Amino acid sequence: FTPNVLAGHHMLVTAGPTFEAIDPVRGITNRSSGKMGFAIARAAQEAGAKVTLISGPVALETPRNVQRINVQSAQQMLDAAQEHITSANILVATAAVADWRPATTATEKIKKNPQEAVPALHFVENPDILATLAQSPRAQSGQLYCVGFAAESQNLVEFATAKRVRKGVPLLVGNIGPSTFGQDDNVLVLFDEHGHHTLPRASKRTLAKQLIREIAQRL
Ligand code: C5P
Repeated sequence: FTPNVLAGHHMLVTAGPTFEAIDPVRGITNRSSGKMGFAIARAAQEAGAKVTLISGPVALETPRNVQRINVQSAQQMLDAAQEHITSANILVATAAVADWRPATTATEKIKKNPQEAVPALHFVENPDILATLAQSPRAQSGQLYCVGFAAESQNLVEFATAKRVRKGVPLLVGNIGPSTFGQDDNVLVLFDEHGHHTLPRASKRTLAKQLIREIAQRL
């Protein structure tokens, strides 16, 4: 592992799921342990970068010398990302952001009432954090390098190739979910403007180090 390939760089990492409240005790979320994002934050810090890690609710320890900001909802994650992106020059978006949130959040717990129909949930779309930041002037002018992730259950090459273009990012990292969720190892497929290549199955820690090298080469 080449040390200090990211010296002088500031990386912002989003990680974990988001949690969208229905009422004070209930909510909807995504399956994500946060392990891949935390491994990337750790590897980037070890490679000399300043690292800001914006995390949804996960049960993981903060990597050493990494600034961690805890959030719950996608909107909070976007707000935190926009606040901290101004000094960052690399974004790695590993978070499993909920695509929708309940249109309203009840202030009190919704009570079960056998006389009434079960409650119906109405959803509104959440902001796309990666796409929003990838369209920002700093990203568009080359001052912010954006890396997206994609978990697909099928047709990874086709879906991820299209997703990279749709999100407007130079590098998109695919993995085949849901087999990877919560696991300590993974297979990553890197998609860029030249095509794609695979980082074979390894621990998320090893893959994170390899990915840091791949990112550093592209800066
Ligand atoms: O479209 P999809 O959710 O599959 O895209 C995944 C990529 O986009 C990941 O990098 C994820 O962190 C990011 N994303 C985001 N905000 C969303 C949805 C996805 O940043 N609302």
